[in-house]
Amino acid sequence: MTARTLREFLADPKGDGNHAPRELSVLIEAISDSCRTISFLVSRGALAGILGSAGTGNVQGEEQKQLDVLANDEMMAMAKASGVVAAAASEEEDDARQFTPGAPYLITFDPLDGSSNIDVNVSIGTIFSILPAKDGPNGNDAFLQPGRNQIAAGYCVYGPQTTLILTLGHGVVGFTLDPAGGQWVQTSLGMNIPAKTKEFAINMSNIRHWADPVRKYIDDCLAGEHGPCAKNYNMRWIASMVADVHRVLTRGGVFMYPWDKREPNKPGKLRLMYEANPMSLLVEQAGGKSFDGKQQILDIQPTGLHQRVSVMLGSREEIEKLEKLHAAQ
Ligand code: AHG
Ligand code: MN
Ligand code: MN
Repeated sequence: MTARTLREFLADPKGDGNHAPRELSVLIEAISDSCRTISFLVSRGALAGILGSAGTGNVQGEEQKQLDVLANDEMMAMAKASGVVAAAASEEEDDARQFTPGAPYLITFDPLDGSSNIDVNVSIGTIFSILPAKDGPNGNDAFLQPGRNQIAAGYCVYGPQTTLILTLGHGVVGFTLDPAGGQWVQTSLGMNIPAKTKEFAINMSNIRHWADPVRKYIDDCLAGEHGPCAKNYNMRWIASMVADVHRVLTRGGVFMYPWDKREPNKPGKLRLMYEANPMSLLVEQAGGKSFDGKQQILDIQPTGLHQRVSVMLGSREEIEKLEKLHAAQ
């Protein structure tokens, strides 16, 4: 049997002979087309003169790279042209943009995740989340739905290969972009995060700022086989959430960007609507868990489009250790 293309997958995603909803297929294919375009731009880099700063800042006060802006423009144009998106919200824009009135979906995205890695040729990606639209206007407030409402979520990694990882709410599948023909070919049938792991990902340079439960968890990992975990851990930190989470989905592990004391009133660094929710749905659909220090991330009722959140996700047993440590404090 030859591997299925993305289009063939969408014709029977559950293996029960039923096509995915037509408008959802239209949107997923449109996203995949944009990811192919962004992948091409990323691969040309300096040849296209698109590395480096755009000289502008986004709503979060972060410097925008040229590729942040180009990827954002591509995703917005796609959402508008698809005809199935009522409104779209981006990490790079202050407010949601209104597109097709009466259309069924809202989309949020981080058009280019891992911006600090663009200019050093390390993996970066695009993250997206699809929510149901409301009847009537779909302003910023319409997006404030818990992650459990997501109809689909996924990401594309622009790495040694370009891969698209997707959930429609029943399992997680993966596709690789074939540079020869431009097709998305299914290369992962059902991604499953092992419950146990010996690998964690956290920016260790922040150790002095962490809350006690996070510090205790990492101390226990570092104590190795003679410590309470009775095993030796390995550490990875790519500083692109897409690439770090892709590793967790592929071989297990725990990824953390927790709240810390640097800015105590800031709940975390990562953004709920553009990063934490889509990744949490993927992780949960692959058998893992996600946690913000108080509750499951997918249960959080958002209060702002750009709100930030503490993130711990990955292999089930490790997240349960973190849940216990937080409950005990
Ligand atoms: P973005 O490039 O979309 O702003 O996101 C960067 C995020 C995330 O991808 C990564 O895990 C984290 O920032 C890295 O932060 P540090 O540089 O503080 O390690
Ligand atoms: Mn990001
Ligand atoms: Mn980004």
